[in-house]
Amino acid sequence: MPIICSKCRSANAEVQIPYAKLNLCPCCFTDFYKARVRRTVEEFKMFREDDAVGVAVSGGKDSAALLQVLRLAYPSLELKALHINLGVPEYSTHCQQKVEKLANMLNVELHVFSLPEELGMGIGDFEKTPFKGKLCSACGTIKRRIFEKLAIKAHVRVLATGHNLEDVAGVMFNNFLYGRWEQFVRLKPVLPPLAKGMASKVKPLIKCPENENMLYCLYNDIPFREIDCPYADEIGVRKRAKILEFLSRDNPYFRHQLLSRFLEIMPIVEGITQKPELSQCKVCGFPSLSEVCAFCRRIAMVKEAIGKI
Ligand code: AMP
Ligand code: FES
Ligand code: ZN
Repeated sequence: MPIICSKCRSANAEVQIPYAKLNLCPCCFTDFYKARVRRTVEEFKMFREDDAVGVAVSGGKDSAALLQVLRLAYPSLELKALHINLGVPEYSTHCQQKVEKLANMLNVELHVFSLPEELGMGIGDFEKTPFKGKLCSACGTIKRRIFEKLAIKAHVRVLATGHNLEDVAGVMFNNFLYGRWEQFVRLKPVLPPLAKGMASKVKPLIKCPENENMLYCLYNDIPFREIDCPYADEIGVRKRAKILEFLSRDNPYFRHQLLSRFLEIMPIVEGITQKPELSQCKVCGFPSLSEVCAFCRRIAMVKEAIGKI
């Protein structure tokens, strides 16, 4: 016997939402998903309905779903897609093609920063530096800075990323466990601009589980990448996912509860965490913790390794 959708009571249910005790048909699931994103944006005052928002679209399912749902939920938003081509052979071309297809479909302006074209390097070049074996971490630093550059170029006030519930709850849990409070605070749903003229950063999918982002893409014909980055830190990600999965076994609401409790204690953690003193990087001029920022130091390291300086 097919299960009937708990919302419309007419179509067959295809999606089970155990933590909300709902069984939904694809159409009601899309409404449910869109309403949750709107609620999250409003709860954390991420942006106004007519704001200029740039979405960092990697080609993956989360950020692809984010761009589409924001277009649908906020028709008067000045929406831009921002993509970084990391110069990973095959993978980066594939991702960029998916992003171009999606931006075209939604009629959204796309800004691309290509590492090979603009910096003469690719993420793989970190293999020749002390970051060998830790490419993901170097990649994170590079991406964070380029997001800032793209946001300035696209004239957006807000930068939205596709971090999902598992990403945030899992990494918060790890930082909590090891007492890495500065990194814990960096996972807040809204981060103010680092300096005047820079964008604030928001995570509208913070309450959306990964599998729902995937289903949302499938039901709405949203293109997303079909191959994985060869340098991705799959072990770390899988380890965190496994712990969360284990803890969620008898309590489907566990990930949401974890996130809610973390957000409750966030102001206390912020209170005990020293705000880092930022100065200006003497190479690029961006806000920095040291004389030369982490981005410039890493780029210089690669250029030296590949013989470009
Ligand atoms: P990750 O750090 O890979 O877990 O990605 C987190 C979020 O950062 C994604 O959901 C995207 O919003 C953004 N992102 C990651 N990689 C890229 C990229 N190459 N281009 C644009 N946005 C990206
Ligand atoms: Fe950063 Fe693959 S996307 S290492
Ligand atoms: Zn710098």
